Amino acid sequence: MDKLLVTGNGPLRGAVRISGAKNAALPILCSSILVKGPVTFNNVPQLNDTRTIERLLNRMGITAARTETHRFEIDASTLTSPVADYDLVKTMRASVLVLGPLVARWSEARVSLPGGCAIGQRPVDQHLKGLEALGATVTLDSGYIHAKAPAGGRLKGARIVFDVVTVGGTENILMAATLATGTTIIENAAREPEIVDLANCLIAMGAQISGAGTDTITVVGVENLHSATYRVMSDRIEAGTFACAAAAVGGEVTLLDAPVTSMEAILDKLREAGCTIGVSGQNISISRTGSLKAISTKTAPYPAFPTDMQAQIMAMNVVAEGTAVMTENIFENRMMHVSELTRLGASIEVTGNTAIVHGVKQLKGATVMATDLRASACLVIAGLCASGQTMIDRIYHLDRGYEHIEDKLIGLGATIERIS
Ligand code: EPZ
Repeated sequence: MDKLLVTGNGPLRGAVRISGAKNAALPILCSSILVKGPVTFNNVPQLNDTRTIERLLNRMGITAARTETHRFEIDASTLTSPVADYDLVKTMRASVLVLGPLVARWSEARVSLPGGCAIGQRPVDQHLKGLEALGATVTLDSGYIHAKAPAGGRLKGARIVFDVVTVGGTENILMAATLATGTTIIENAAREPEIVDLANCLIAMGAQISGAGTDTITVVGVENLHSATYRVMSDRIEAGTFACAAAAVGGEVTLLDAPVTSMEAILDKLREAGCTIGVSGQNISISRTGSLKAISTKTAPYPAFPTDMQAQIMAMNVVAEGTAVMTENIFENRMMHVSELTRLGASIEVTGNTAIVHGVKQLKGATVMATDLRASACLVIAGLCASGQTMIDRIYHLDRGYEHIEDKLIGLGATIERIS
């Protein structure tokens, strides 16, 4: 199991290119199932999670391959078995995003129920509610979701109101609705930029969608979708992570090809913390030379402050001046990085879903353990701030969502070594 050895050695300087967004690439790769023909996706990041989707599609008989560093070419017309097996789904919950496309295009699907994960139970009841509203028959047996389109094979457009704002649920139903007969209206939809990116990709394939990015999305079903080429948006969470590293350690960093317009809530917090932010085109410069101020946060659905940035901001707060109150409102167990930060000398009290973070002058390197994707990024940032060496174990979590993160940080002057 790989580890990362991080040595705190002062400010970061330089430029880093932001990769394609994991949380846009995953649903977009799944959308290929809707097309009986070739599709090409560019700017797809090289991650364990995109590799898992590639294996999942290939296991269904779909020809899917990375033909260049960041290019995928997929042709779902060779699909033979609309099944997503437990062994793959358990390694990545987002595999459930094949469900909607399979039922819409191939009239049925058998997809393993994605278990929970470290950060929460993460049910998919809204995904299933939406599919049933579209006329699918959904049954659960021996850990699998079995969904079948109505007789005749096509889903029927419907009005669906989600009980909770769900990114994956919105994406699954959005994809399923593109090939339904009639019109679908999705209310209380998630508004994340990655959903807009998925919708733009589906529109490039011939789907008729309006309202993506708002809480009401309207889809007029069509008979077929056609081949298309689409470039995945860049990753706002990766960009935010590097920005937090620059804020925490100090220095001056430029983020190249960042999705500037989808980062307002993140950039506001960095300004509040004392960073100077400059934007020019798709490039963002972050510098922090003065003192780092503690900033309180409450996570909420887009466009509010994202849950996927909570741990990274906490890594800043542990070495900031003052006390921060950080509340996690999306997932029930997304504070596991706290105990690891405490091992580095942080001073944090957690009650329920709120952490009170008292900034300390200096962290001290130690051995810590990654528990989930964004917690791992938090520990890397904390290691960069700590004196001495920090060994981070179980960094397979990190490799799920960050493309060559140690190379990118070394390019900014960090001292990091991967120990295999
Ligand atoms: C997506 O997960 C992201 N993953 C997550 O990023 C992100 O944290 C999350 O959205 C929230 O922004 C991908 O896009 C691949 P949800 P998703 O459905 O779709 C509850 C990362 O670090 N819920 O919006 O699984 C659920 O329990 C990952 O990149 C239901 O109750 O999140 C949670 O409390 C982590 N029933 C809340 O909604 C449902 O049917 C939000 O979940 C679905 C969700």
